[in-house]
Amino acid sequence: MVLKVRTYDTRVPRILLLLPTATYRASDFLTASRKLGAEVVVASEQRQTMSGMMGDRALLVDFDRPEAAAEAIVTRAKEKPLDAVLGVDEQGVLVAALASARLGLVGNPPEAVAATADKITMRKAFSAAGLPQPGHAIAGPDADVARLAREVGLPCVVKPVSLSASRGVIRADDPQAAVDASVRIRTILADAGQDEDAPLLIESYIPGIEVAVEGLLRGGILETLAVFDKPDPLEGPYFEESIYVTPSRLAAETLDAVSQLTAAAAAALGLLEGPIHAEVRIDSNRMWILELAARSIGGLCSRSLRFRLGVSLEDLILRHALGMPMDDLRHESDASGVMMLPIPKAGVLKEVRGQAYARAVPGVDELDISIPIGRTVRTLPEADRYLGFLFAHGDTPEAVEHTLRSAHGKLEIVIDAPPS
Ligand SMILES: Nc1ncnc2c1ncn2[C@@H]1O[C@H](COP(=O)(O)OP(=O)(O)OP(=O)(O)O)[C@@H](O)[C@H]1O
Ligand SMILES: [Mg+2]
Repeated sequence: MVLKVRTYDTRVPRILLLLPTATYRASDFLTASRKLGAEVVVASEQRQTMSGMMGDRALLVDFDRPEAAAEAIVTRAKEKPLDAVLGVDEQGVLVAALASARLGLVGNPPEAVAATADKITMRKAFSAAGLPQPGHAIAGPDADVARLAREVGLPCVVKPVSLSASRGVIRADDPQAAVDASVRIRTILADAGQDEDAPLLIESYIPGIEVAVEGLLRGGILETLAVFDKPDPLEGPYFEESIYVTPSRLAAETLDAVSQLTAAAAAALGLLEGPIHAEVRIDSNRMWILELAARSIGGLCSRSLRFRLGVSLEDLILRHALGMPMDDLRHESDASGVMMLPIPKAGVLKEVRGQAYARAVPGVDELDISIPIGRTVRTLPEADRYLGFLFAHGDTPEAVEHTLRSAHGKLEIVIDAPPS
């Protein structure tokens, strides 16, 4: 009898995480990587992000030069093979796609990811696929913004094509307000180190409610992991994110339609693998895709999601990237949510009072103030950081929303006038 000897690859899986210095996502992804027993190589643009914790398993990359960054990763992988390359947020996803494509790893086509980083290219892809989205026009630096706003229809929304977290997104109700908004956005772009002459988008304002969709693509098939309701009205002129609660209270058939529209949007962009985050507006029985990103939910918001067996969203994303099994994608608790703490005014953050009271509200899981005391805070449309995050769970979405509001009511955010 001949004994067949099978060899197993017992090597610890090795994953490269792209962690920009400003990311909120580092600790959650590092925790999940350790839990899976994976070896992590961190790629970042500054050595201090990685100091101490990673030793020689660190790589310096420039996120503004995606081709060169991807090349550096490919070179590193030749020394020690990588099983996955993951961009944890907006800044790293294109580099991850480029490197993954070159290394033959699970990932998205780079041109699909590039389309998500430019709202004009994204609108073109959605138009080509015939998806319902806001009517829009492109305004270059010399454009007649008032005329374009009239053509698109008022009210309209003027926005930059490549910022995030609602930075620079402004509703305008008349042509002059659209002109003023465009001037203000160009200053915000310059402040963000971007090209102030870049084209802007002028979109028709879509009324109604808004949901956020968290999903995972596997071989081009979208699995909806969560739909969040945004119970605070988002009517402008600025669009400050606040409460997200899941599961959504919308009817099952509406939610099916939301999932289908999101899947169609991902397909229109050509995305195939990994997490997606989308925003959909719904007004009576119509819905529109606002946008779709090739990443998971931003800030620390993913902490509001727990899947069966205590699995986090980052666990799922890493398991998928590493080709590990994922059996049960159902949620653990009945309802959960997060509040991105609103910034009441611009100035210097002095103190956040009442934190112990807020944490003591039954159902509150965590309160995280993410801006250090003494730092300058800005309000939208200029704001570029979240003040903090409040997490809660409960039996129903209503209970979670109530818990978040009452815990927020215990907080007193003390902001001094900005230095003149
Ligand atoms: N055409 C529109 N009609 C109505 N509301 C809009 C429109 N465009 C944007 N908004 C509102 O502004 C918010 C932010 O806009 P958008 O998603 O385009 O920018 P963003 O900076 O990428 O946001 P984020 O990073 O939060 O996803 C949307 O979630 C929505 O509430
Ligand atoms: Mg958005």
